[in-house]
Amino acid sequence: MAAGVRYIILSGTCFMPLGLLLLLQLHPYTPAAAGSSSCSNTSVLAKTDVPRGSFLGKESLYVDRNEFPASFKFGAMTWAIKHEAASYEDGKSDGLWDAYSRKEGAVFDGTNPSVGGDHYHRYPEDIELLTDMGMDSYRFSVAWPRMFPNGTGEVNQLAIDHYNSVINKLIDAGIEPFITLYEQDLPETLEGLYGGLLSPLFIDDFVHFANACFSAFGDRVKHWITFDEGNDFLPFAYAATYCPPGRCTLGYPYYNCTGGDSSTEPYIAGHNMLLAHAAAVDLYRKDYQLIQQGEIGMAIWFRWFEPLTTSSADIGAAERATDFTVGWFIEPILYGDYPSSMKSILGERLPSFTEEESARLHGSVDFIGLNAVTTIYATYDNDVSNISAPGYFEDWGAKLTAYKDGVAIGRNDGEYMVPWGLQKVLGYMRTRYNNFPTYVTALGYGLNSTSTNDDVRVEFFAEYFKYLIAGMRDGADVKGVFAWSLIDGFETTLGLQQRFGLYYVDESFVRHPRLSALWFKNMLTSNGTLISKS
Ligand SMILES: *[C@@H]1O[C@H](CO)[C@@H](O)[C@H](O)[C@H]1NC(C)=O
Ligand SMILES: *[C@@H]1O[C@H](CO)[C@@H](O)[C@H](O)[C@H]1NC(C)=O
Ligand SMILES: *[C@@H]1O[C@H](CO)[C@@H](O)[C@H](O)[C@H]1NC(C)=O
Ligand SMILES: *[C@@H]1O[C@H](CO)[C@@H](O)[C@H](O)[C@H]1NC(C)=O
Ligand SMILES: *[C@@H]1O[C@H](CO)[C@@H](O)[C@H](O)[C@H]1NC(C)=O
Ligand SMILES: *[C@@H]1O[C@H](CO)[C@@H](O)[C@H](O)[C@H]1NC(C)=O
Repeated sequence: MAAGVRYIILSGTCFMPLGLLLLLQLHPYTPAAAGSSSCSNTSVLAKTDVPRGSFLGKESLYVDRNEFPASFKFGAMTWAIKHEAASYEDGKSDGLWDAYSRKEGAVFDGTNPSVGGDHYHRYPEDIELLTDMGMDSYRFSVAWPRMFPNGTGEVNQLAIDHYNSVINKLIDAGIEPFITLYEQDLPETLEGLYGGLLSPLFIDDFVHFANACFSAFGDRVKHWITFDEGNDFLPFAYAATYCPPGRCTLGYPYYNCTGGDSSTEPYIAGHNMLLAHAAAVDLYRKDYQLIQQGEIGMAIWFRWFEPLTTSSADIGAAERATDFTVGWFIEPILYGDYPSSMKSILGERLPSFTEEESARLHGSVDFIGLNAVTTIYATYDNDVSNISAPGYFEDWGAKLTAYKDGVAIGRNDGEYMVPWGLQKVLGYMRTRYNNFPTYVTALGYGLNSTSTNDDVRVEFFAEYFKYLIAGMRDGADVKGVFAWSLIDGFETTLGLQQRFGLYYVDESFVRHPRLSALWFKNMLTSNGTLISKS
């Protein structure tokens, strides 16, 4: 079998359609094959009370806000590159995705970030949408190329003014801002200057940018996320062509890169990102945290890997896959070093931390964000020793598949809908990482559809929230959840094809509520009594 077929790779960040297409060709989706998996632990759900209300007449779609602690935060989110548009207004320069989307074939429908949502101009309206749904919080990212069009140096006052205005409007509306500093939004000039994340020069420039944000916004912003799901997009940027800069080992049959090294660059970029995180957190804690009284963390893409069988080989494969994706970032920020499995498999290919770096990383988060939207089976890959050109995706020695005995793990419209996986993620954080405090920093479902009748998405939220409640009843320390995404946007490699918004955004950027927006409103503002579509 060709390597591209053996390695079925899905991404939360850059939507790698190649892997999906191969998968769908092998096992076309049929409704009968989907639905809940045999792995689903229904005894857990039984612990949840029988729903007392309904949504659109269906009890199964009802989730009671009272099942969550009163302090639990419900929010929705956007990203600058996906939703702001206004790509070159008020001094903003090219970010990685502005430049990458100009590459032939990089974006499925040939679009670019300028088609995404127009949030830059319509944020007052978007904040009203958050208010209307009864959201407590809003997670968004600050565009580095807007703040520093030259990458570093003098801050662009127009960008400060813009984000100040967004933040003030949120505060006036009683909505707590959560700011993400880095969402693949590197100024292209720094990519050209020194190769971006491949260079340790990235660290100081990131800290310079972070400092400007803490200083300008931190009096009102109490929740910071340094990096969002770098553990997901770096491999797709440095061992595949699905995120910029799209580098990988020459001659890889399935990615067709023009330069790079899939066996080292993802780890080097990850290392620099972790060091940049630690340096920014160090700065925040020394100069800002005492006065501003905020918290700072990192968000991790957490795909659950379920062993395909109960064999120790498959369990080992799932553990390695988790170490190489999740442990890769969580163990350094909690304990100051990489997982031992990565160190022994990679040897010299994995950079190491000095004692000082390790000490700075150790405990460098107040919370961990979990982007936990999907699950896949992992099985032992006995072909792994036979790979001529090793790389990040081969290093795990795990093969991924969405099918067990011919049955799909869940419905698929881009990512697999596997609600029970969320409870497993929360259980893993509880047992493996001593129940470190978390937020579910992204939960959402993409559909190839502009329709406002997104009953599939409503089912996604209702089912995932039931397992979120179950995970919290097991004892998981979860402080809030963010719906991905508030509005439709530019979905990187899939352009405008995949839609994630609670609000549909039409060609004129007009917002239209979907059923999912009504579902949130129903849960958060009317105690489950509002059941008609307005
Ligand atoms: C299901 O969850 C319950 C409670 O957490 C546990 O006792 C039981 O062993 C689980 N069953 C399976 C099949 O995983
Ligand atoms: C960016 O660099 C250019 C040329 O070096 C300079 O003229 C400009 O003032 C710089 N802008 C900012 C915002 O630093
Ligand atoms: C790889 O890229 C080159 C240059 O863009 C192109 O000519 C070639 O057809 C591509 N090969 C494959 C297998 O996609
Ligand atoms: C390695 O690949 C060769 C050629 O495809 C095959 O004959 C051999 O069985 C493989 N070895 C292992 C350990 O999978
Ligand atoms: C969504 O659209 C993309 C691009 O056309 C396609 O590759 C994918 O198969 C579609 N997904 C579904 C579930 O129809
Ligand atoms: C919502 O409904 C539950 C019972 O269904 C009730 O206990 C609770 O007081 C209600 N909350 C509000 C704010 O009306």
